[in-house]
Parts: sequence; C-alpha cells; structure tokens
Amino acid sequence: MNIDTLYFFKKKAEDFSFNESVSLVFDDMVNRSVPLYEEFQKLIVQYIVKYLVKDTNIYDLGCATGTTLILLNNQLNKTNTEFYGIDNSESMLNKAEEKVGRLAKKPEAIQFILEDLTTANTFLNPGCFILNLTLQFIRPVEREHILRNLYNSLPHNGFVVLYEKLLEEDSEFTRNFIDLYYDYKREKNYSDLEISKKREELENVLIPFTETENKNLLKKVGFSKVSTISKYLNFGVIIAVK
Ligand SMILES: C[S@@+](CC[C@H](N)C(=O)[O-])C[C@H]1O[C@@H](n2cnc3c(N)ncnc32)[C@H](O)[C@@H]1O
Repeated sequence: MNIDTLYFFKKKAEDFSFNESVSLVFDDMVNRSVPLYEEFQKLIVQYIVKYLVKDTNIYDLGCATGTTLILLNNQLNKTNTEFYGIDNSESMLNKAEEKVGRLAKKPEAIQFILEDLTTANTFLNPGCFILNLTLQFIRPVEREHILRNLYNSLPHNGFVVLYEKLLEEDSEFTRNFIDLYYDYKREKNYSDLEISKKREELENVLIPFTETENKNLLKKVGFSKVSTISKYLNFGVIIAVK
C-alpha cells in the first residue's frame, strides 16, 4: 500500500479532488484519516450479507478503490448477486480494477462504471445502495434528488447504507469531536501542517450534515425505517430500509 505523504510535500493549496495522486495513496489515506474505518466496513458488510433481499444486486456509489465491494464479493461469492461500483474518478476505478484482480474471489461478478452520481439513474435489480463517505462530497442541493432516485429503484426491504462524517447538534461538541479527531490523525503520523493543509482543501468540498439532517432527508424521500448502526466521534453509519 502506498503511504499518503501528499500534504507533507504539497506547496500550493487547491480544492481537494479524487485525482490520480489521491487514488494512488487512497487506501492508506482513508485508514489513517477515518477512525475505525476497517471496523465500520466490517459491520456494513456483515449487515448487508445478512439482510440483502434475496437475488438482488449491490451498488457501491462512490466505490473509490473497491474495498467494500471486494469484501462483499468474498462473502457472497456462492450467490447470484452482482456487484456494481460507480465513481466519477477514472484513476480510482483503475486502482479498483487492479485490486479486484488480486483480491476478489469472484471477480467476474464485479463491474465498475465511470459515472457521476448526480446523473446515474439506471440500476439493474438493486437490493442495496452503499454510500460510504461519499454523499458528503455531493453538493447539498443534489442530495435529495439522488436519494429519492435510490428509494424509487429499491424493492420492499431494500436499503441504503449511509456512512458519513457528521456534525453534532451542539457546536461545542462538534469542535471537541473534531479536536479528538485531529488527535487521532496525529497518532497516525500526520503532522499538524499536513492536517491543516488538508482541512483547508476540504473546506468547500466535504460538507457534512448532522445525523438528524441525514435521517430527515432519508425519511423525506420515503424510507420508513431509519437507524444509526454505529457512531464514533464525528463519523456514523445509518441504515435506511424501504
Ligand atoms: C471518500 S471516497 C469513498 C470511499 C469508499 N466508498 C470507501 O468506503 O472506502 C469518495 C468517493 O466518491 C467519489 N465521488 C465523489 N463525488 C462523486 C460524484 N458526484 N459521482 C460519482 N462519484 C463521486 C470520489 O471519486 C471518491 O472515490
């Protein structure tokens, strides 16, 4: 795995994007930047394996390097489930293809699609949509229309997994959680300068909602059962069932 030193060497600030240099270090970056990333992924996979509507397919929206789809493929390789990863970053999908070749038990069941989520609207027999750390990168005005489209495409008992960075209702808690979060990044060997450079680049790009705002949006588009299955500091996973 390539080590993320992007912000150690970076001189000029620009808006964060999922470009080639990010794709090359993404797996290290996400593991060192999201507390309990592996544990949350494990729980998400466990939930999907147990509750996926029989004979339906899984869509990972903003699939990046394909981590979640590979974990799922390796557990559901004896079923008819097909696995689709959608992302608008070509370099992420190249990395994902390479990982699938190395790590997936049933690679022929995985397909990646280069597409923007704001326009993606054709899904083949979906039973579950995964949005892991992705909706937060979509402009807030676009989120309702995307979620409504997912809701309309799902069968009864189909569901969405929404894993997001979250704001707290109380701004003091938000500040404290972010402070603890930066301690986590320091423990993972990011310097204060790297942390502040990345924060600046993410400012207009990653726009988190509170847990309640996310849940209200999911209910507004039609999901009847919405629950948080995991939360740690400013990260949480919500499941919304149709
Ligand atoms: C933080 S990464 C997701 C990580 C991945 N789901 C995981 O669990 O490791 C966000 C991904 O969403 C993709 N993305 C952001 N906006 C998008 C959009 N409008 N359409 C499609 N993909 C998008 C990015 O290219 C990136 O790969």
